[in-house]
Amino acid sequence: MKFFIDTANLAQIKEANDLGILDGVTTNPTLMAKEGIKGYEAITNHYKTICEMVDGPVSAEVLGIEFEGIIEEGKKLAAIHKNIVVKVPMIKDGIKAIKWFTDNGIRTNCTLVFSAGQAILAAKAGATFVSPFIGRIDDGSWDGVQLVEQIVNIYNTQGFMTEVLAASIRNPLHIVRCAEAGADVCTCPLSSILGLLKHPLTDLGLAQFLNDAKSMQ
Ligand code: E4P
Repeated sequence: MKFFIDTANLAQIKEANDLGILDGVTTNPTLMAKEGIKGYEAITNHYKTICEMVDGPVSAEVLGIEFEGIIEEGKKLAAIHKNIVVKVPMIKDGIKAIKWFTDNGIRTNCTLVFSAGQAILAAKAGATFVSPFIGRIDDGSWDGVQLVEQIVNIYNTQGFMTEVLAASIRNPLHIVRCAEAGADVCTCPLSSILGLLKHPLTDLGLAQFLNDAKSMQ
């Protein structure tokens, strides 16, 4: 399973990248706004910086919701850097646009996916990635990881090439369960990635080893 970081924060991207386990980045308008990025030039420069930091797919989301607008924006985003993947919402014009991008060699990430039916449409249109939103499904007391499992099964059965990118990850257990479910990619906040490191027995064991090591010096 590939690890993407789900942020537009450069310090966090650097920290995850320095671990040596980072395969890509996802952003969305909320995450970009959180960094105070405003205006076409600043947005473009920010994506460029991220692409130069991480050697892997970087999802940049279109803001338009109509076919022509999505295509115009997507072409500009894709021209920023070879790492850019155009992120398109799961709407009717979005599906049409994904098909257009697929036919024109531009990689896409179909976002805001909450059902297996939506994931089938995204795959039919040729999306490179499909993003089911695990945490937001859990927020409504459904099981987000079950959807990942269902999409993985359907894609395997049907031979779809679209990669299942588990998004809206909220904790380390989500990452573990998505790995079990066969997700191709998990996009996570830095806190969830670092949470994977934690175990009290590791801390206790290390403290003991360090203490015993002193008697060997
Ligand atoms: C990433 O592709 C998604 O936009 C993101 O994971 C959504 O996460 P959230 O539900 O925590 O906002």
